[in-house]
Amino acid sequence: MNAKSARSVQIAPSILAADFSRLGEQVNECLEAGVRRIHIDVMDGHFVPNITMGPLVVEALRPLAQRFNAVMEVHLMIENPDLYLADFSRAGASAMTVHLEACPHLHRTVHNIRSLNAQPGVALNPATPLVMLDAILPEIDVALLMSVDPGFGGQKFIASTIDKVARLRQILIERSLERIEIELDGGVGEENIGELARAGMTIAVAGTSVFGRHRSITENIAFLQSACVAALA
Ligand code: DX5
Ligand code: ZN
Repeated sequence: MNAKSARSVQIAPSILAADFSRLGEQVNECLEAGVRRIHIDVMDGHFVPNITMGPLVVEALRPLAQRFNAVMEVHLMIENPDLYLADFSRAGASAMTVHLEACPHLHRTVHNIRSLNAQPGVALNPATPLVMLDAILPEIDVALLMSVDPGFGGQKFIASTIDKVARLRQILIERSLERIEIELDGGVGEENIGELARAGMTIAVAGTSVFGRHRSITENIAFLQSACVAALA
């Protein structure tokens, strides 16, 4: 078995693209289809030009996630995330990703997440270079590379991110940090998920490509999963 086929890819549906009048039902369908990581996009209208959801939504989904032993990850596209970490933890978030661009005291923030028994993640915007992760890498569980500028679902994938994934995979190998997940977020779908998997991604956030209306959620997840399996075979 080579290094490539030793990896697998987890699909993390982004509920931002869900039908909010049927949120529980749709998240349940994801979990029934085998999903074990739910991606919850938290936006504050300051760090990004949009406002979405907070701890209340996490709390509402908690019983469902617990039933399937699934991770609820909050993607905090907010300024001053430290002010809200305890609230999200109480609501049931077991993974919390903050933006490097919003955290001047990143080690402290990551330590705060770890002390709440949650998986710490750090996200980079498309224009932020990988070198910015150098000092924090050994402290985190998830490196999230944005493949669109954060703020909205349904945006076009920025193709240069594929090379960024490959370079981060190489860095993790060289530094013996392969336990760290490489997560991709934004415009991920059937057309690019295979290539991203080959480049070294281990978690694929998928909004439109999971909750898109032309096929069922179950079918969408199956298509994404089989594209990854085929790419890594
Ligand atoms: C963008 C969010 C993403 C987004 C992904 O700011 O962080 O998680 O919802 O949606 P799609 O997959 O539709 O690009
Ligand atoms: Zn996200």
